[in-house]
Amino acid sequence: MKIAIGSDHGGFKLKGEIAKHLTSKGIEFVDFGTFNENSCDYPDFALKVAEEVAMKNFEFGILICGTGIGISISANKVPGVRAALCSDTFSAHATREHNNANILALGERVVGTGLALDIVDTFLNAKFEGERHQRRIDKISEIEKKYLK
Ligand code: RB5
Repeated sequence: MKIAIGSDHGGFKLKGEIAKHLTSKGIEFVDFGTFNENSCDYPDFALKVAEEVAMKNFEFGILICGTGIGISISANKVPGVRAALCSDTFSAHATREHNNANILALGERVVGTGLALDIVDTFLNAKFEGERHQRRIDKISEIEKKYLK
C-alpha cells in the first residue's frame, strides 16, 4: 500500500505525527508538503495529492488542514477523487465500506493526535463493500462527467 500525504500549515504538525505513525507500521508514503509552518494555501496541497490519487499512483491520500474542510473541498474537485473528512472512527470505516473513499481528510484543530491516528488506521484497514454502493459511486462519476468541459 502506497499513501500520498499533504497538508497546509494548519495541518503540518499532525502530518508529521501521521508520517511517524506510517513509518512505524512499515507503510510506504510520499509527503507532498507543506514542509514548514509558514502560512500557505490548502488548495495547492490538496491538488498535488488528489492528482496523484486520481492517476492511481497512490492507493490512498491523507490530507490535513486546520479543519479538514478546505482541503477536502479542494480535493473533491479532482474527478475520480472521493475525499472524506472524518472526525470519528465510525465515519472512517463507513466511508471506505460505502463510498470507497480514496482520500482521508483530517482537521488538526478538531481531533487530537491519538484519535487522528486511530482514524488513519481504521480508514486504511477497512474494505469497500461494492454491490449497491458501487451503483451509487457510479452516479457520482456521472455527475462529474455532466460538468466536465
Ligand atoms: C488556515 O488558517 C485554515 O483556514 C485552513 O487550515 C483550513 O482550516 C481551511 O479549511
